[in-house]
Amino acid sequence: MKYIYLDETESTNNYAKEHITEIEDKVVVYTSKQTCGRGRFDRTWVDLGSENIYMSIVLKPAEEMQKNFSNLTQYTALKLAETFEKYGVIPQIKWPNDILINNKKISGILAETVFRKNKLNGIVIGVGINLNANKEDFIKIEKLATSLNIEIGKDVDKQKFLDDFNNNFFNKYEKFLEQGFSLIKNDYEKYINFIGKEITINNLNDKVTGIAEKITDNGALIINNREFYTGDIV
Ligand code: BTN
Repeated sequence: MKYIYLDETESTNNYAKEHITEIEDKVVVYTSKQTCGRGRFDRTWVDLGSENIYMSIVLKPAEEMQKNFSNLTQYTALKLAETFEKYGVIPQIKWPNDILINNKKISGILAETVFRKNKLNGIVIGVGINLNANKEDFIKIEKLATSLNIEIGKDVDKQKFLDDFNNNFFNKYEKFLEQGFSLIKNDYEKYINFIGKEITINNLNDKVTGIAEKITDNGALIINNREFYTGDIV
């Protein structure tokens, strides 16, 4: 695994995007301290200390990969869920790509593309993982959250988790690029728990409530006969 380690940075996604031309394909940037971590929908990703994971995977797949972009975050979510499972917990994927344990968020993914002159220069998959947090620090987070050390009652080796996750990520990555969501559909569905239930999804300016019918072969969520490729389940 090729890593770039930073003692401190604004955001590993920002760093990866700014240095996208110098950073090679499949390099992982990570830091001990993020001063301006970002989440989806312009949210903040709170820094819970140096024993948690703030990382960005830099990918430079062919331009055709753009069509699989939303599925890449689902692939990442699956690889995270599988890694958590090895620690004896029961992870769930909150479609499309939050990871929950006991209904509390433990990890989030922020994927971004970098274009220069209409050409895709790279994809940055930012991953924040609450690995070793102090219970008192969760008041800094608005939403219900947890961390792996709290769930299993002991500290987690950060380097080992990083290696486990990244090795697992790259293990099937090439195959995923060729086959897309169909490669992971069955495995991904094992971690989804709301199919058949009524949910509400925020999608841009739209709010839709209905029964979550299924995940399609290309990873979209069907609610009231409508296909969603992104959104936030509330
Ligand atoms: C979300 O849940 O909304 C996504 C959170 C993503 C957080 C990670 S931490 C490393 C990387 N750098 C950032 O600024 N954000 C991502």
